[in-house]
Amino acid sequence: MPTLSNLAAVVVAPGVDYFPGLLDRAEQEALRDGILAILVEAPPFRPRMPRTGKPFSVRMSNCGPLGWVSDETGYRYQPTHPETGRAWPEMPPRLLEIWRLLAPDAPPPEACLINLYDANAKMGLHQDRDEQELAAPVVSLSLGDSALFRLGGRERGDRTRSLKLQSGDAIAFGGPARLAFHGIDRITPGSSTLLAEGGRINLTLRRVSRSE
Ligand code: SIN
Ligand code: FE2
Repeated sequence: MPTLSNLAAVVVAPGVDYFPGLLDRAEQEALRDGILAILVEAPPFRPRMPRTGKPFSVRMSNCGPLGWVSDETGYRYQPTHPETGRAWPEMPPRLLEIWRLLAPDAPPPEACLINLYDANAKMGLHQDRDEQELAAPVVSLSLGDSALFRLGGRERGDRTRSLKLQSGDAIAFGGPARLAFHGIDRITPGSSTLLAEGGRINLTLRRVSRSE
């Protein structure tokens, strides 16, 4: 089970806990290997924007009972891969353990979105709001090349701040920040040796359905 090297959170804004260096190198490698195995079973797909069908610059996959997908018909969670039709692979136990440590009051996560960034990929400012359960935080883990993460408030026009997310860092946003706008401006190619082919993997754990 994960040995987390640094469980001390830096509260960067109300509801936003940042855990720099949460995962040490061995823990990052173990998680990387688990995710690479999942990507064999559930190959990366390129999501498309609702209505326009414009492709995202990131590729995605998921693990857990539910996965987040996007295409012309909209954003949604579903139990199967949009291209293979197969159920998503199980979430690695160490991810569940990390969730328990970072979100001790929340019910277990149901979805782990795997975002794959190559050198030119980014993600526009958005809210995570396709979940029914907004009481649970979003827990995000970064592996590989570092990324410039932009975090704003609940309104699109709110002031934003930037955080550099490095391999092994975690960030959890919940409570007053659960619906905070966020995105990735860019990654820094070549800034990590964790992934043989370079790039960045972001894992976003979420509770989707409301628990009693
Ligand atoms: C996301 O908001 O889905 C991804 C954020 C990240 O890549 O750090
Ligand atoms: Fe997000």
